[in-house]
Amino acid sequence: MSGALANRRVLVTAGPTYEDIDPVRFIGNRSSGKMGFAIAEAAAARGASVVLVAGPVSLATPAGVERVDVRSAAQMREAVLARLPVDVYISAAAVADYTPADTAEQKIKKGAGAMTLELVPTVDILAEVAAHGQRPRLVVGFAAETSDVGRNARGKLEAKGLDMIAANRVGVAGSGFESDDNALSVYWPGGARELGPGPKTRLAGELLDLVSLRLA
Ligand code: CTP
Repeated sequence: MSGALANRRVLVTAGPTYEDIDPVRFIGNRSSGKMGFAIAEAAAARGASVVLVAGPVSLATPAGVERVDVRSAAQMREAVLARLPVDVYISAAAVADYTPADTAEQKIKKGAGAMTLELVPTVDILAEVAAHGQRPRLVVGFAAETSDVGRNARGKLEAKGLDMIAANRVGVAGSGFESDDNALSVYWPGGARELGPGPKTRLAGELLDLVSLRLA
């Protein structure tokens, strides 16, 4: 197999994370995992050696991809760090930014009044990978934006020390979390490209074309 991704080690994260409150409740989000799974599948088809760290999703494992299932942001972080070094890291997962300060061992009973849940920040896995001693050659992030897409995405590119960021426009019909289609605005230092709208499977290939160009 030829091409910039042939025989490269590619690590992809996908899906939501679930942050447990007690044995029956959790904080999650609406990520379907489809974009990350499509990227993993397309990278494997290009001859890369692909590990897919997946949050809780009901999707079939793409052909030729090694899958690691995790639940929480902390577990996703552990799985990712254990797989370094890699050549390319693509962070498509919708990782929780906050997690409960404590997970109750017993189901929390309702009381009479209001209840407050204390949340603490999770580690930003993407920023950590980008600053890691075994930093992948290419670190690609995602951003979910509802407004000011370019400015916000470029801000994250810079703040997290990324090589590329793909901004999803959420809250727009025909793109985003549960849809089979998406539209991405991709930014890298000195360049930008609009991908789609179109099927996530096609966009995954187009994103990998940009990744390949940056790698070459
Ligand atoms: N990310 C991560 N670890 C976290 C949180 C996010 O690796 N604990 C990654 C996601 O996989 C994604 C990117 O960081 O690639 C999203 O960045 P984030 O700053 O969370 O942006 P948004 O989700 O767009 O949220 P916000 O605008 O609220 O910052």
